[in-house]
Amino acid sequence: MTGKAIRLSKSVVGRQEAEAVSRLIMEDGYLGMGNEVRLFEEEIAQFLGVPTDTVMCVNSGTAALHLSVGALLEPGQEVLVQSLTFVASFEAVSAAGAVPVPCEVDPRTVTIDLEDAQSKITSATKAIMPVHYAGNPGDLTAIYEFAGHNNLRVIEDAAHAFGGTYRGKKIGSFGDVICFSFDGIKNITSGEGGCVVTRDKRVAERVQDARLLGVEHDTVNRYAGQRSWEFDVRSQGYRYHMSNIFAAIGRVQLRRIDNEFAPRRRMLACAYRRLLDGCPDIAFFDADYAEVVPHIFPVRIPDGKRDLLKKYLEDLGIGTGIHYKPNHLLTYYGAGRVSLPGTEKIFSEIMSLPLHPALKEEDLEFICGHIRRYLSREEVHDVP
Ligand SMILES: Cc1ncc(COP(=O)(O)O)c(C=O)c1O
Repeated sequence: MTGKAIRLSKSVVGRQEAEAVSRLIMEDGYLGMGNEVRLFEEEIAQFLGVPTDTVMCVNSGTAALHLSVGALLEPGQEVLVQSLTFVASFEAVSAAGAVPVPCEVDPRTVTIDLEDAQSKITSATKAIMPVHYAGNPGDLTAIYEFAGHNNLRVIEDAAHAFGGTYRGKKIGSFGDVICFSFDGIKNITSGEGGCVVTRDKRVAERVQDARLLGVEHDTVNRYAGQRSWEFDVRSQGYRYHMSNIFAAIGRVQLRRIDNEFAPRRRMLACAYRRLLDGCPDIAFFDADYAEVVPHIFPVRIPDGKRDLLKKYLEDLGIGTGIHYKPNHLLTYYGAGRVSLPGTEKIFSEIMSLPLHPALKEEDLEFICGHIRRYLSREEVHDVP
């Protein structure tokens, strides 16, 4: 180690978030789901330019996806989803009793390959879950056309994409069912958390009740500072609602995204491209940073050099990641019974470089300088 430690990702929170939580503890007197969550939902809706009752906050992005799948599909029905995503996307589908069908990705954007998806449609296919990998939604127009032709619902896994736009429109401001994550390292964080955005009133109602153990209309009572005592439950629910503490943090973060986090993430991603331009053996994925707010910064390093470079950087104190191990290789999802050669090749070559708003330009120069030095050697070998 050089004594320098550069984290792959980080929660960027400070005095404002601490004060918001402190105010809630000292003055509000209720930490569960109440007024603060209602305000967070209102402010997210305002930010996206959608009606307030289309936004439902929950305690994780996985919960948002799980409730959405549960509201739309029956057990045994199939969801087309790229294999190269965080396991949360797959878990959310299988937790609802539905079946995730692993698909290939477009190698330029790591978003779902619609040709491959088309070949996997059966009579049980009812939805497609495009994952906005690294913040990039890919060709959403084509995805919605594909869904229309095949009579599928769309559940956007937009865990990486909060704050970004598609053709000038905010992700989440249009579409079918959109799920965001606000976990500790996302574009904004509420500690843990997430939300569902949908204009489908039936789905919105199902999600509202299902996040509160299926207790009908409990959201309305909680937002009025009350509890439901005389109620009915008609379907399975979960304890997935958001707490006032999470919302207090999220509300501050939401105020910071446009002026602080989004420009900083975009600037850092552009700086990586500039500093690594022409570097042998590094390939970038496509992304238009006028639209995408990058959540992670993955690159491709071919010819078996990825693991060597990863170790070299780790030894220097530079955190790196692999986003992600494809789900079709996991035991629970078939242990490689299905072959997805394109996805497997990308998996063998991807590596994510540090990206979070607290990174400094000098950190990027340090990281990129070492990558250049390492990859320009005559022979890349396992010695730092
Ligand atoms: C692609 C993707 N989908 C879903 C999730 C789930 O979000 P959460 O961690 O808030 O449950 C994540 C989180 O890392 C993710 O990266």
